[in-house]
Amino acid sequence: MTIKNEVKENSRRSFLKSSLLIGGLAISNKKIFAASMDTQVGDFGFIVGPYLQTSFSNSISILWITSKEAASWVEFGVSPENLDQKAYGESSLGLKPAGRINCITLENLAPGKTYHYRIVSKELSDFQPYKVTYGQEIKSDIFSFINTDSSKDAVSFVMMNDIHDRPESIVHLLKIDQGKDRDFVFFNGDIFDYQTDEKQIVDHMLKPVTELFAKSTPFIYVRGNHETRGKFARGIADYFQNIGHAAFSLGPARFVIIDTGEDKEDTHPVYAGIVDFDHYREQQAKWLEQEIQRDEFKNAAFRIVLMHIPPRYSGNAHGPTHCTELFEPLLNQGKVDIVLSGHTHHYKVHAPAEGLNSYPIIIGGGSRDGQRTLTRVEIDQKQLKVQLLGDSGAEVGQYTVNRRKL
Ligand SMILES: [Fe+2]
Repeated sequence: MTIKNEVKENSRRSFLKSSLLIGGLAISNKKIFAASMDTQVGDFGFIVGPYLQTSFSNSISILWITSKEAASWVEFGVSPENLDQKAYGESSLGLKPAGRINCITLENLAPGKTYHYRIVSKELSDFQPYKVTYGQEIKSDIFSFINTDSSKDAVSFVMMNDIHDRPESIVHLLKIDQGKDRDFVFFNGDIFDYQTDEKQIVDHMLKPVTELFAKSTPFIYVRGNHETRGKFARGIADYFQNIGHAAFSLGPARFVIIDTGEDKEDTHPVYAGIVDFDHYREQQAKWLEQEIQRDEFKNAAFRIVLMHIPPRYSGNAHGPTHCTELFEPLLNQGKVDIVLSGHTHHYKVHAPAEGLNSYPIIIGGGSRDGQRTLTRVEIDQKQLKVQLLGDSGAEVGQYTVNRRKL
């Protein structure tokens, strides 16, 4: 560990001495480290997790990483005393998953219900063709989450972007929202500078989010241009339920998430001929064209788009201008209510502009002290309110959208 990283780690831990309430649960520092101690057996243990991700619709994914290959499952139920249900990862070609990185999705959950769960992994200590030998079985503590009722009246979330390998910013920014109950946390890209290995993903994102909130509140993540770089860029998706485009309905809102890809030409020497983002963005645009025709999109009280590179106002590089060319006409046609982005590192509220973007574009700041922001979004049946909070916690920008007239 470098001195720089030690400083980051120390500042993170000193903050964690206080407890944080997000997703309705208080998590104390003592509890966090006790849990990881209890579950380590020999050199087989949980590296990180459980952390929750979701696309709502009465399902939630529980993810974790073990230090060695294992058979894994989730035990869950509506009472902590009776975890009477068991879920496994999705089988492929008849084989249940057996590895280190786990993503197990619980489905058909009851709206608004609290579920209790723990993760279980059984080490595959010797894997012979006709004899598999198991090693230690380890279990986490029991945690809980509320399965969000997708038909609820009001929804809220916080967004972070452009963290750039500074995990202490995740801790700092979430402290601003301490004590608030959020439906999810959104990461709008560039959480890393470039992808190096698993340890970076674990130490700079998964550990802080798991310790702070993600055992009980899900997060959603879309890749920025920096996550496409580095020797491990092709490995990062394995650690998440999804880091690409997505759409889901929650309460009065339809959420549309676009993966905006890289910011330079595909032919730029730094990409060495092994990227294909023009084609990828064109595919995203085709998907968006279909999405804005869907009843769920058309009938939503509010249409919220989340994309790392904004559809305008982030310079003249190839990626941003391609985003304007491809996405702006569709976002105007779909009458979206707001776009939330990052990328420029300068927080800014752009009002709708005649003949250009017919919707406001809110850009969150990053990554340096004084520039980073927490974006708070609260939506009810009448209004969508966005607040940009600077790292002192003070409001540095805001925008309110009233529900459109039918
Ligand atoms: Fe960035």
